[in-house]
Order: sequence, then structure tokens, then C-alpha cells
Amino acid sequence: MSSDEPLISLENVEVHFEEQKGMFEFFGEPDVVRAVDGVSLDIEENDVVCLVGESGCGKTTLGKTSIGLQRPTGGRVKYKGQDIWDAKDKKGNVEIPYKEIRRSLQIIHQDPGSSLNPNRRVMKILEAPLRRWHKQMSAGDRREQVLTMLERVGMTPPDDYAGRYPHQLSGGEKQRVALVRALLMDPDVILADEAISALDVSLRVEMMDLMLELQDQFDTSFVAVSHDLSNARYFAAHGGGRIGVMYLGQLVEVGPAEEIINNPKHPYTKVLRWATPNLKDEEAGEPPVRKIDIPDPKNPPSGCRFHTRCPEAREACRQEKPAQYEIDDDHKAACFREVSDHEYWESPEITDEEETTPAASSD
Ligand SMILES: Nc1ncnc2c1ncn2[C@@H]1O[C@H](COP(=O)(O)OP(=O)(O)O)[C@@H](O)[C@H]1O
Ligand code: SF4
Ligand SMILES: [Mg+2]
Repeated sequence: MSSDEPLISLENVEVHFEEQKGMFEFFGEPDVVRAVDGVSLDIEENDVVCLVGESGCGKTTLGKTSIGLQRPTGGRVKYKGQDIWDAKDKKGNVEIPYKEIRRSLQIIHQDPGSSLNPNRRVMKILEAPLRRWHKQMSAGDRREQVLTMLERVGMTPPDDYAGRYPHQLSGGEKQRVALVRALLMDPDVILADEAISALDVSLRVEMMDLMLELQDQFDTSFVAVSHDLSNARYFAAHGGGRIGVMYLGQLVEVGPAEEIINNPKHPYTKVLRWATPNLKDEEAGEPPVRKIDIPDPKNPPSGCRFHTRCPEAREACRQEKPAQYEIDDDHKAACFREVSDHEYWESPEITDEEETTPAASSD
């Protein structure tokens, strides 16, 4: 395995969920939710990637798939070149055991309360990963390490916090305990799924700063999921990272944080920016979309999935799925407008009157 392999590589990843049928619907085709469709993305060491997009666009599913918590229905997910699911299934020549991969890829949830055992004190909660992964560590060293980490995340005096139960902590403190628990595994990647959304606005910046400081000290990469573009911008820009914009299960634009904010290329990224109060231009008028409604992920539009709402849509967008076109190093957008000689430019505009939303082929 070469050392220039990305830490995580997603290759044309697809996650389709079959919806449970009701009692009287045993027959016929099951409904399939195309939560993630054809996403490719590399996550490097010490990287920060923020996934943004409207609720239901597949951020959580893609995040979980990139840390091996969700099995893709198509494509591959590799950790340092090792296919994660081959390792899990012990298929082929497994170079990195699944157990090692599981330890290296951690998650902190939106609601840390539900992921912390309410009947255990903080010390017990935080000792658990050390007991599991560092069996040779003495009880004294374990306690010492937990106290040091609590202090590092600003929970002082650490002895006091170590003796508390989760219900005796504020939301921000619970989130810090969840962060410490993930870090104690010595992970390569932490998925932070809306990890700061539940916090008071005043605590968000503090928590993001803390995560970035620890990211640096512990050489960890972060994949952060957020429905809020300004939070994503803060986190990705301060971490020297990228923003990935998702729409209906696809990654429509990815690039360095400030590029995405100041030089967005994909018409959907412009919509997100328009919809974010502290990023939108003062003189911004109507939303830059033809329709507000988000299509059903069970029956996504053909071609470019944004064509039913895109103000720039032309006939070609209905027919063909755009690839990821490179704009600059690290900056890509899936829109024909980035290709100067694409037939898009010759094809007629789509007007709302003639608009239909045929189902996507299996693109
Ligand atoms: N386990 C599941 N079974 C069926 N559908 C799911 C499951 N998880 C997510 N979905 C569906 O997949 C789509 C994407 O969901 P999700 O990844 O949670 O989006 P986001 O995090 O962007 O809000 C949604 O339509 C959601 O209802
Ligand atoms: S490919 Fe067409 S529909 Fe899609 S974003 Fe670009 S212009 Fe809009
Ligand atoms: Mg989510």
C-alpha cells in the first residue's frame, strides 16, 4: 500500500435505501430512496471537509459511508487504500484489519446526550475506549489520561467533571465529552454530524475553535456535516479545508471554503448562499431558483438533478448528467456552464410552462 494513498477515498459511491412497504403493498417494485448517488471524494490526512446542503440531501448518509458506518450499495470506500467492506467481510488480501479501521474512524453526533450512557459517570464513559484499545494501560494511567483530556477541552477542575453524570452537564459540556471520547481512540478521522447545531449560537464558535485546535494537536481529519453554510464556512476556512455542496444525493460542488463562498460556480451553491442571512449580498433580491420545492429523492429529475429548479437550465440539462468539471486545483463543479464548448450553450432554455420531471434513469 503506497503512502500517497488518501486517508479515505470514496469512488463513485452510491447508497440506495429500499423503503419498507405497507401491509397491502407486498407486490411490485419497492420504492428506492437514492440517498447518495455517484459521489467521489478524497479525504487527506489532517483534512477538514464540510458537507452542506438542505435537509434530506444525503449529508449524514455520505458522512457515515465515508467512515465505514454505512455500507454503500455501489462504488467503493477505501481507508489508506484498503477497501473497508472487503476488510469487514475478510474478502481478498486484507492489509488493514477491520478492527483497526473501526478504531481510526470515529463519530460525534448531533445530540451527544443520547450517545452518552446516562447511568455512568464521565470518568467511566471515557475510560471505556482506553480499556478497549489500550488493554495494557494501568488504571492509574487511564484516569490520568482522561483527566488530562478533560482539562484540555476546558472542563476544569477535571476531577469535578469526571465525577458527574451526563444529566449534570450542559449541552456544550456533553459535546466536549463526546469529542474527548472520540479523540481517546486516537482516530484519523472524526465525523462531526451537525455536532454544533444543537448548541447555543454563542457556544458554536468556541466549540468549532476547540475542535480545530485539537485537530491540529492530534493530527485528526474532520468530516463535518452542517445544514448551515456560514458554520461550514467558519469551520472549513479556519481549518484550511474544503466545503462540499450536496444536492439530492450528489456532490454538486467542492472546493476551498473561501472559493465556494466568494466564487461559487454551481447555481445551487448560489442558492445556498442566497439563503444564508450573513452571507447573502445586501442587494440580493428574489431567490435564484425557478421553483422552491425540492424533488422527491425516490424519483429524482433526469440529467442534472437541479434542472427543475435551476434558473440557467437548458434542454441539455434534462438529458445528460454533468460530470465534475475542474475549475481550479481542488475546486470542481458539476454544471455544464463550466464547459465552454458543451452543447448546453446551443440548447433551448427550459421554461416552467413546459417543465416535466421525468424520473432519472439509473445514472
Ligand atoms: N436508513 C434509512 N432508510 C431509508 N431511508 C433513509 C435512511 N437513512 C436516510 N434515508 C433517507 O435518505 C435521504 C438522505 O438522508 P440523510 O443522509 O439523513 O440526509 P441529511 O443528513 O442531508 O439530512 C433522506 O431522504 C432520508 O429520508
Ligand atoms: S447543468 Fe444545467 S441545470 Fe444543472 S446546474 Fe448547470 S445549468 Fe443548472
Ligand atoms: Mg443529517
